[in-house]
Parts: sequence; C-alpha cells; structure tokens
Amino acid sequence: MSDRVVTAVAGTNIALVKYWGKRDAALNLPATGSLSLTLDGLGTRTTVCFDGGPSDRLQLDGAPAAEADRGRTSAFLDHVRDRAGITARALVTSANSVPTAAGLASSASGFAALAVAAARAAGLSLSTDELSALARLGSGSAARSLHGGFARMARGERADGGDAIAHPLPGGDGWDVRLVVAVTATGRKPMGSTAAMQHTARTSPFYRAWIESVEADLADAMRAIDARDLAAIGRVAERSALRMHATAIAADPPIVYWNPATLAAIDRVRALRDAGTPAYFTIDAGPHVKALCAAADAPAVTAALAEVPGVLRTLVAAPGPGARVVEET
Ligand code: PMV
Repeated sequence: MSDRVVTAVAGTNIALVKYWGKRDAALNLPATGSLSLTLDGLGTRTTVCFDGGPSDRLQLDGAPAAEADRGRTSAFLDHVRDRAGITARALVTSANSVPTAAGLASSASGFAALAVAAARAAGLSLSTDELSALARLGSGSAARSLHGGFARMARGERADGGDAIAHPLPGGDGWDVRLVVAVTATGRKPMGSTAAMQHTARTSPFYRAWIESVEADLADAMRAIDARDLAAIGRVAERSALRMHATAIAADPPIVYWNPATLAAIDRVRALRDAGTPAYFTIDAGPHVKALCAAADAPAVTAALAEVPGVLRTLVAAPGPGARVVEET
C-alpha cells in the first residue's frame, strides 16, 4: 500500500496512418506501424492511488465505471503491480473531455494517462519509451499519446513488445494545423476496436492487402510531415482511413461504422477543397469525421461541417503535448 496520489493528463491522438490489426493480441502488438497527431484540449485526466482497498475501483466521468471498463483497468494495473513488485489495489479517478468509447479515441488518452499516473503512483521511474510500451498494453493507440504533436508507432519485431513503441516526429513540431471534429452520433460505438480488428483479420478478404499497404503510407506520411505539405499528408490520411474502413466493411459479417452524416461530411470536405479550402478527412472506429486543415482555415472548415445534416456538434483541436504528471502528493 502507498499513500502516493498521482494525477496525469494525456491528449488523445488521431491516426493519419491507421493501426488496424494485431500481430499479438495478448501484448497488443500491432501488425503494422501507424502515425498520429496528439491533440490539445481533448483528452483524459486520471488520478491513481494504490490505497490498498478491497479491489481496484474506477470512477469514470464522475460515476462508478461499468464492470467491463473496471476490469480492463484492473488488468492493466496488474502489469504495473507486477513490474513494481506490489500487490495493493488502487482507486482510479478518470475524466474524459471526449465522449468515452464513441470513436473519438478516448482509450488512447485514457491508457496513456493511466500508464503515466499508475507507474509513478506505484513508485516506478520509467523512461518515455518504457511508458509508451506500458500504455500499449492497455490500448495500441495509447502508446502514441506519450508524445506531443506528430508521432510514429513502430510495429516492432520483438516478441516481448519492447520495440513496439511510439517515437516523436520533431519534423512536425510547430506546424500550425488543426483537426476539426464533426460529431455525428451519440453513445458508444457498436463494436470495440480490439474485437473489430480481430474479426476483420479473421474474415476480411482484404485484410492482407491492407496490411501490405501500410508501409508505403507511412513512408509518404513521414515525407509529407518533413516537408510540411498539407495536401500530401491529407492524401495519405484519406486513403489510409478509407482502406481501413474498406477492409472492415468487407469482413463477414461486415463492420460498418458510418452513418449517413459520415458520408455527407466526407462530401463536404471534398467540396471545401474543390472551392479552394484545403481540408482532408479521416475517420476512426466510429461515425465521426475529422478534418485536417491549416489553423487559418479552421473557422471556415468548422462552419461548413456544422451545417451538414446529421452533424450534431463540432470541436476544433490544435496539436498538443504528450502525456505527463501534473500533480503529486
Ligand atoms: O488502440 P485502439 O484499440 O484504440 O485502436 C485504434 C484504432 C483506430 O483508432 C481506428 C486507428 C488508430 O490507429 O488509432
């Protein structure tokens, strides 16, 4: 038992080259690399104390969490306890500034903040690489939220996952882009990303082709970031998202995350571009559309997406910092 109370924050991240498939489900090792942008203002704040209560407890957004979320958190804390050589159960208090499990990547910021807070509360002193690998055990995308701005997640080769971690891409530092989120539904998505990835890998005839396509997308995305070429990164982001969804849609039974507003918002992004405002869409495991654009164009992109039928609200996010401890007592 320890009375150390640690609070960490993490921004969510949105993949521009998507991760969709695992080479090892138990250790959450990705089948391919991926590349993302960590966001400011949309994320998770998590406080952890290994207080030695009767079991791990999770308060999520002000209320006791559902058993599935509590169990996933507890399984993650087991990794931290193993590593620290402690057995005490913990109280975890977490708040998301994005809707939980709705395809707005709350698990990325959630497990990044949890990894940072829990490791410190357990008395561990881990490097950023070690924290990235730890966060990955909770959610593959969480490994990327350890870094601010653009980050690249490595597939890694090692069986223990020590090299399946994210690295920052400093070439993108200070690039003043925005991500405009068009929220097109409320509530939780019908199938979580882990189950959906596994189902896709098992049943989609397109899965192998998808996996084989990612390396070239990563190379193009890296070049685009180094050159600060919005059109180039936008082209990669759109094709990566569409190919990821195409492989899931081709699964049996199919996984279709989109709703009519998803398509209408895609259409609006293309229309904006045709009319001279460069904006590029991406879509995660949910129906929301996220548009990447220059900071100066964010108001116009937001206004255009806000008037699309079925878009419930819009959010704008700038690149943000990596996960970090903000309070410790
Ligand atoms: O790491 P997970 O289980 O949250 O899966 C992430 C899946 C996508 O958001 C669709 C893609 C990605 O790379 O973030």
